[in-house]
Amino acid sequence: MIGQYMTRRFTQAAALVAAACAISGPLVAQPAPEPAPLGVEQIVALEALRNITDVPLIPGRGSEPFWNALRATRSLPSVRNGRETFGGLGTGKIVGGIPAQAGADPWQVALLVASQSTNVQFCGGSLIAPEWVVTAAHCVDRGTAAVDVDVLAGTHDLRSGGQRLRVQRIVRHESYVSPELGNDIALLRLGTAAPGMAIQRLRREEEGAALREAADPNNSTQVRTTGWGAVAEGGGGVSLLRTVEIPFVSREPTCNDPRSYRGRIREDMICAGRQGGGSDSCQGDSGGPATVAVGNERRLAGIVSWGEGCARALKYGVYTRVTTFEDWIVANTR
Ligand code: ARG
Repeated sequence: MIGQYMTRRFTQAAALVAAACAISGPLVAQPAPEPAPLGVEQIVALEALRNITDVPLIPGRGSEPFWNALRATRSLPSVRNGRETFGGLGTGKIVGGIPAQAGADPWQVALLVASQSTNVQFCGGSLIAPEWVVTAAHCVDRGTAAVDVDVLAGTHDLRSGGQRLRVQRIVRHESYVSPELGNDIALLRLGTAAPGMAIQRLRREEEGAALREAADPNNSTQVRTTGWGAVAEGGGGVSLLRTVEIPFVSREPTCNDPRSYRGRIREDMICAGRQGGGSDSCQGDSGGPATVAVGNERRLAGIVSWGEGCARALKYGVYTRVTTFEDWIVANTR
């Protein structure tokens, strides 16, 4: 049954296996091990899967944001995998932000669950060329296939406008393991050119001048991050794109300070946020852009990746550092 579509009506056992997979990775074949006692979150997952009767479910395939977005369509609680990386519970959406102006972030795209005819958003992304989207690897891990994902481009409103496009190919970073270990980047090759506008990536030589932390955070580089967020909070995300500006904070000493991330921020990550919290990206914003101004233009500096909870004091938002992957992007978009 591995790799086969499972449609409608799960038996309890099949649902259990699927639930376990959704939490912990690829399905392992027979014989079925004696199931460990279920935790609350697994019971929630099991209940959720039992109620999903009209979606083809492929056990073990699809990222955590993907599954949580699907569950949210049934107003069911999200599933956590025991790690604290996935946005945390409770807060939701771009925190402390405001609605984005229509057309202000024309590179922003939404990743949608392809099997759903309505726009079920599970992650964000940015157009870096008419046929290329950059997103987070954790948005398309656990065997997410190109056919599982559609891209909505050219609108800030999930309910109207824009174009829904097929994904032809997913290029996940070959060294990606989990967001906290870095390499949280993936490329989506679209079947056709997207509406909207590609954003230029921040270049290595621009980075020093573009990403500055000042003693007064108001004088630090302001990073803008945008998203439809909150898809996993049980109530669905917001349908109008939201935006927030937050100060860039240095990896050393600020973000790796013992009171913040204690050395867990690697060289291929950047941080942004306020010391007191209150403004941040959050669950469902993953894969989306963190941009900075260079002259009159905006440049893609980061990709929403992880954070401890959302908008907590000293727990800055962590973004994939785009300049680290300059060569990787060039090599893989050829
Ligand atoms: N991992 C989350 C997602 O999949 C995004 C987390 C961003 N968290 C933060 N505090 N900035 O949507």
